[in-house]
Amino acid sequence: EKGGYDWFMLKEIAEQPQAVADTLLGRHSADGRLQLDEMRLSDSELRDVDRIIIVACGTAAYAGLVAKYAIEHWTRIPCEVELASEFRYRDPIIDRSTLVVSISQSGETMDTLMAVRYARQQKARVLSICNTNGSTIPRESDAVIYTHAGPEIAVASTKGFLAQIVACYLLALYLAQVKGTKYGDEISDIIADIQQIPAAVQRMLDDGDQMRKLAADLAGSRSILFLGRHAGYPVALEGALKLKELAYIHAEGFAAGELKHGPIALIEEGLPVFVVVPPKGRDQLQEKTVSSIQEIRARGARTIVLAEDGDEDVVPYADHLVRLPKVPTLLQPLVAVVPLQIFASEFASVLGHDVDQPRNLAKSVTVE
Ligand code: M6R
Repeated sequence: EKGGYDWFMLKEIAEQPQAVADTLLGRHSADGRLQLDEMRLSDSELRDVDRIIIVACGTAAYAGLVAKYAIEHWTRIPCEVELASEFRYRDPIIDRSTLVVSISQSGETMDTLMAVRYARQQKARVLSICNTNGSTIPRESDAVIYTHAGPEIAVASTKGFLAQIVACYLLALYLAQVKGTKYGDEISDIIADIQQIPAAVQRMLDDGDQMRKLAADLAGSRSILFLGRHAGYPVALEGALKLKELAYIHAEGFAAGELKHGPIALIEEGLPVFVVVPPKGRDQLQEKTVSSIQEIRARGARTIVLAEDGDEDVVPYADHLVRLPKVPTLLQPLVAVVPLQIFASEFASVLGHDVDQPRNLAKSVTVE
């Protein structure tokens, strides 16, 4: 049943190209219009949406953080991401024009379910992104977009994460279409870019040996840091979460721009630091990230740099260089997270841990 893999997690990592392709399948027509058949909110209701609040836990919340960049960029609707366990306790300001988007692989996470119930009591509209047909959260929501990742068995979420991001992007493009902030051609172009992702993810899988070797090399580390910027920031958070839950070591993700505001004090000789470098663009984020790498390396960090093909600026500062296929900035998380998943699973197996069932964790957390 593990399909020849030692662990369900490895099988699920390998299924990611399919999970992305299946989540996209049948959702868009040749003329660029999107059809989301589980959308039980009318276009006019969606046109009224003036604020989006994403609620989720753990990895699903990080998918939401990635999605926020795309949602705001494509739709111009303000979007916040909130941990479901915090949301209803802070007396949030929500009304009928707020769209609350819950993200949950299992559809049974109690914190997320309570956030959904609270939002509906406050008259917000709730759309859920979920991987489990007929589970509680979608049943209690106004609309659902199912991710078609297939069952996820390993406690650590992998293919669920990629599929959640893709589903959020489909939602963002649908809203952009309804609101008129993007036209058919632009939407088709973005969809065409997303359609390249399964092949790009496959390449990261094919390059997996590099991460396996690195995990064996770094297996003695007691602490590992992850840095990212823009949509790469939640990737850093996710890389750290995977390592915490599977390898039981200290791992933390930071926004690279925050280094000087504290975290750089942690850097010491030999500390492994993963850095996700954004694609080159008009915003200078690539250059700024390269200077962060210089700064930590000058203080002795062992740098593991994830940068796109052709980015030569990073070469002098990378102790290990992981090449990423060239994809648009907003899609980079879908490829950059894959080596981090492989690294964490491999690290845990080198340490002799149960990769599928880490200690103290449950697949769905059905208590608050
Ligand atoms: O089923 P859900 O997506 O609602 O689960 C949310 C989190 O509990 C989950 O993503 C958790 O963080 C994973 N174990 C991370 O790998």
